[in-house]
Amino acid sequence: MAAKKKSIFDLINMKKAGEQVSWVTAYDFPTASFAEQAGMDMILVGDSLGMVVLGYSGTNPVTMEDCISHCKAVRRGAPNTFIAGDMPFGSYQVSDEDAVFNACRFIKEAQTDSIKLEGGVRVKSRIKAITGAGIPVIGHIGLTPQSSGQLGGFKAQGRDVRSAKSLIEDAGAVQEAGAFAILVEAVPPELTDFLCKYLTIPVFGIGAGPADGQLLICGDMLGLFQAFTPKFVKQYAKVAEAEINAFKAYIDDVKAKKFPSDEHVYHVIDPIEAFNELFKQYKPGCP
Ligand code: KIV
Repeated sequence: MAAKKKSIFDLINMKKAGEQVSWVTAYDFPTASFAEQAGMDMILVGDSLGMVVLGYSGTNPVTMEDCISHCKAVRRGAPNTFIAGDMPFGSYQVSDEDAVFNACRFIKEAQTDSIKLEGGVRVKSRIKAITGAGIPVIGHIGLTPQSSGQLGGFKAQGRDVRSAKSLIEDAGAVQEAGAFAILVEAVPPELTDFLCKYLTIPVFGIGAGPADGQLLICGDMLGLFQAFTPKFVKQYAKVAEAEINAFKAYIDDVKAKKFPSDEHVYHVIDPIEAFNELFKQYKPGCP
């Protein structure tokens, strides 16, 4: 029997009980289904889909339509798993109204359980507005890819005291605004440990050391994304390698006429003599 879908209260209680939350990204039906079958607590339909499945060099070109479409596929693949939809660049930057409108689309059209957005103090009013509309929010601070230009690239954050102080203030703002959880990306484990104690909401980490739960990008942990692998990733499979080898073996079989063989064809059901009579009525090369 499928495990019961986690609620935000289950996730909050897991922190209280010292139980770790497992979280992975997925962007399509099969991956979502495999994650659910494996017993994953949460799935993020991240805007990392821009890099992992759409082939962009960053996340900013990803649109609301891309996100909604991929969230729908993930929901179909994992009907009993808590899903967070990632708000793409431009969907919440302009105003609180825009943010609520687009957050509602995730819940209404794609039936996600929550949304995630990037930023701390500067998105406090957005988080307040979205939670005010009854939508569970996950904050995201540290290395925030949508503003990586402002951060000087894809760099670890909070490594000096000044930057750590600003992240602590961001984390406080996210909790105060009503988010039920926060994701901390690419910060030193000492800071993550402090945040886990400082905040009452669950602190999930990606490249941030031990936390209340962990997130990895499926493309990284499955060995599917080839452009680069961040230092913090543990690779659990070599899917790209397996796919390339499978394609090579198929090409070899096709070229050598080893595929298809007898086991891969549909045989006639009328006597073969009847087919031979039929074929005689047509001259090869003269349709
Ligand atoms: O889009 C995403 O997958 C994310 C992770 C990088 C945390 O936001």
